[in-house]
Amino acid sequence: MTEQSAKLTLGQKDADLAVRSGSIGPDVVDVTALYKQTGLFTYDPGFSSTASCESKITYIDGDEGVLLHRGYPIDQLAERGDFLETCYLLLYGELPTTREKDDFVYRVTRHTMVHEQMSRFYTGFRRDAHPMAVMVGSVGALSAFYHDSTDIADPHQRMVASLRMVAKMPTIAAMAYKYHIGQPFVYPRNDLAYAENFLHMCFAVPCEPYRINPVLARAMDRIFILHADHEQNASTSTVRLAGSSGANPFACVAAGIACLWGPAHGGANEAALNMLMEIGTKDRIPEFIARAKDKNDPFRLMGFGHRVYKNYDPRAKIMQQTCHEVLDELGIKDDPLLEVAMELERIALTDEYFIEKKLYPNVDFYSGITLKALGFPTTMFTVLFAVARTVGWIAQWKEMIEDPHQRIGRPRQLYTGAEMRDYVAVDERG
Ligand code: SDX
Repeated sequence: MTEQSAKLTLGQKDADLAVRSGSIGPDVVDVTALYKQTGLFTYDPGFSSTASCESKITYIDGDEGVLLHRGYPIDQLAERGDFLETCYLLLYGELPTTREKDDFVYRVTRHTMVHEQMSRFYTGFRRDAHPMAVMVGSVGALSAFYHDSTDIADPHQRMVASLRMVAKMPTIAAMAYKYHIGQPFVYPRNDLAYAENFLHMCFAVPCEPYRINPVLARAMDRIFILHADHEQNASTSTVRLAGSSGANPFACVAAGIACLWGPAHGGANEAALNMLMEIGTKDRIPEFIARAKDKNDPFRLMGFGHRVYKNYDPRAKIMQQTCHEVLDELGIKDDPLLEVAMELERIALTDEYFIEKKLYPNVDFYSGITLKALGFPTTMFTVLFAVARTVGWIAQWKEMIEDPHQRIGRPRQLYTGAEMRDYVAVDERG
């Protein structure tokens, strides 16, 4: 990396700060020594201008609408690869050879079962509990079962824990869905591919054979690829911060699930579909566009906008194509929600407000319509996002643990509270 420097001068205080370049993307001013040299903190509450780490996993160019995983564009991975191959790429850094992939698929497939005691956790929840609440609880509980892969200093145990997370999340998610709808759990099957297995665990019932639809299974697999990783987003940063204290990977992923649940993040796919259902018909779109632009109205167009993408989210285009494929395969013509979504997108992209603020559809805009057509209730949408993002979380967690410069994350603050004052006895207070 090329070394330049930046000088910060504040009154008598001077700081010479190193400027570092990556392989692509913006350079960084290294402020590690800033406080020691000047007694100053940097201030960036939303981290819009802050690189929290060095990483080799995912690169995003928000202005160009580019997303690379280990250098490979998301559209090529989604169109020519599959989810487990993408998992291998994220975890190991290279696309697998045939033998490497067969071995990886074999190992993941044979870790898909969860400890039978896990099923007892679910019965403690109400049937109408939101499946994301069940996911936070049950994934956090995994650390109680796998003491042989929580020694994060052991590279072998780190990889075993990573594989277990990728393998078991579909099973845990499917169990949360089955419990939610009052149907019996369906065990994973080693003869099915990853996405096929997930659909089977969700939609098979003991009373009759479940036929895997290869078009729908391919769509599910592609949706997993689109959601696999996304640089230092809120939930990934949560996993990294939790992991920086030495917490075990299962607990860190549970923290990531909790963060992903928020409607500003992974919860947006559920919120976007609920918004489309609330709009209902195309003639009501102007009313909602006006609300989204009204500063006094907290309403936002769910599935629109992004902290990094100031151009079209490349995942949204592929998701839109996948949406059409699924609706066509299922013979769903003129889906009113798709009609509203496409008209909403058309209007928003020509509206001065959205153009000026560079608000485009993101990955969550079309995913809800697709997942609803696949048969999932809206409450399961963010669970599916969590199943896919687990590999990204765990790959970023592994990278952080293996970073020789890694230290516990401990930000400081700009304090604007009360200055020091003496205690006042209760009978002397005003
Ligand atoms: C994901 O980070 C990631 O990579 C996340 C993710 C991943 O894969 O991990 O990509 C997944 O979370 C996608 C985003 C899903 N969220 C939504 O669709 C919810 C709706 N979107 C917004 O809440 C918002 O766009 C965010 C949260 C996504 C981004 O928020 P920012 O970067 O903090 O942007 P902002 O709130 O500062 O908005 C800038 C301006 C504001 O207006 P001004 O204050 O400048 O006048 O744009 C406006 C906002 O009011 N704005 C919107 C809007 N999003 C931003 N106005 C109407 N509708 C919207 N959706």
